[in-house]
Amino acid sequence: MGRIILVSNRVADISKAAQAGGMAVALADTLRSREGLWFGWNGRISDRRSEQITTPDISHINNTTIATLPLSSREHEGYYTGYSNNVLWPVFHARLDIAQFESGHFERYLAVNRRFAQALHPLLKPDDTIWVHDYHLIPLALELRKLGVKNPIGFFLHIPVPPAQIFLAIPEHRELARGLAAYDLVGLQTKIDVGNLIDYLQDGAFGQILKDGRIRAFDREMAIASFPVGIDVEGFVGQRARQTRDRSPGIARIIGVDRLDYTKGLPQKFRAFSRFLAQNADYRGKVVLSQIAPPTRESVSAYADIRNELETLSGSINGRFGELDWVPIHYIHRSAPRRTLVDIYRSSRVGLVTPLRDGMNLVAKEYIAAQNPHDPGVLILSRFAGAAEQLKDALIVNPYDIDEMATAIKTALEMPLEERQEHYDSLIDGIKRQDTFMWCRSFLQALERLGRRGTLAV
Ligand code: UDP
Ligand code: G6P
Repeated sequence: MGRIILVSNRVADISKAAQAGGMAVALADTLRSREGLWFGWNGRISDRRSEQITTPDISHINNTTIATLPLSSREHEGYYTGYSNNVLWPVFHARLDIAQFESGHFERYLAVNRRFAQALHPLLKPDDTIWVHDYHLIPLALELRKLGVKNPIGFFLHIPVPPAQIFLAIPEHRELARGLAAYDLVGLQTKIDVGNLIDYLQDGAFGQILKDGRIRAFDREMAIASFPVGIDVEGFVGQRARQTRDRSPGIARIIGVDRLDYTKGLPQKFRAFSRFLAQNADYRGKVVLSQIAPPTRESVSAYADIRNELETLSGSINGRFGELDWVPIHYIHRSAPRRTLVDIYRSSRVGLVTPLRDGMNLVAKEYIAAQNPHDPGVLILSRFAGAAEQLKDALIVNPYDIDEMATAIKTALEMPLEERQEHYDSLIDGIKRQDTFMWCRSFLQALERLGRRGTLAV
């Protein structure tokens, strides 16, 4: 079997435990099972001379070669902050209102993709399978094809695809579609995403659906299918260090773990908790919301705004309801190692996962995986997380409906053991079946089959 070549902007340190970000977690899990090379940005920003560098730094961890390059500050501003995080991230999460379309950023985005392709090309062998990840690198396959690369190349988008009318608002949408068409297989998180992308390709890029289900656009054929990302259940739960002491006996904990991102619905979550406390005075002093919210993308102004909003909101809720011996919201603006998350999830009565929009949301799956089967907690999940397509037995809520969320918190806290176990049994079963290995295997099998026969049969 040939090697697997993973390409992503963010290359996680696979020897370390703390990795805030679902994509890095999923890929680190993938590389534990197959010989491969992981190529991407080394996380450092250096001066203009780095724009000429096409020889990556190489290191080895177990059977994985890590090959990384720096970005110059100009590239970081245009490719990462400007285009990836100020255009693609908000638009793909249906937030056209905060997208910033500035001239020059798309050119920088393309230039970085071209430089990455030039640096990766000499490292490739003929029987390698190439798997590119996420919105930073949509044009990478086209740049590799221009250099003569014939290997099967797959793309997986970890974030949602917006409805066609929103996609069309991106000034460079046709160039992005042309980039997607250079892949053999495009994998998405949900069936809704697949429908949205096919609609867009038909409306906005003159794509045609072929008899075998593939799409023809820009003189190439590609397959599009959903492959929901899963977690490594045993690996995640097995890293649990020790049973932590219950520091607040008699107090039920509700847990939230989200990068401090405006897509995660954190203000709505805090407001729902506040409404729950306002409507249920008997719960005051008996329940806390612990929200772990590590900082992220601080070079983007929308992230500073959400931080300010949350600090004000948590302060005012704690001021309104708090007592000398009880603080209702524990808001922690730091990342927690995944090892400690297992215990935190397990000792929390409720997992509150309420993004306004999310590609998948691994935290929802991790919360269930960490529960004690004999006394499981309850997952409250936004219908707009990709995970809701699979985790139908969670308490599904609309994160814009504060009353509904406040009621769900009460329902979750009061759910009888038998009902909790029924929900848990069905959820854990799906999470174990569609785990990270299944995700990886099914994507790569489909890609490799396509590479050989030119047709998709997933
Ligand atoms: N995570 C972590 N420490 C933190 C916060 C998050 O290790 O303090 C991990 C979390 O366990 C999960 C991932 O980061 O595996 C977040 O993935 P998710 O899909 O929920 O959201 P994303 O950050 O990709 O939008
Ligand atoms: C999400 C994206 C990833 C990204 C991660 C962390 O999971 O899908 O591509 O790596 O967030 O964001 P950052 O900008 O720090 O890489």
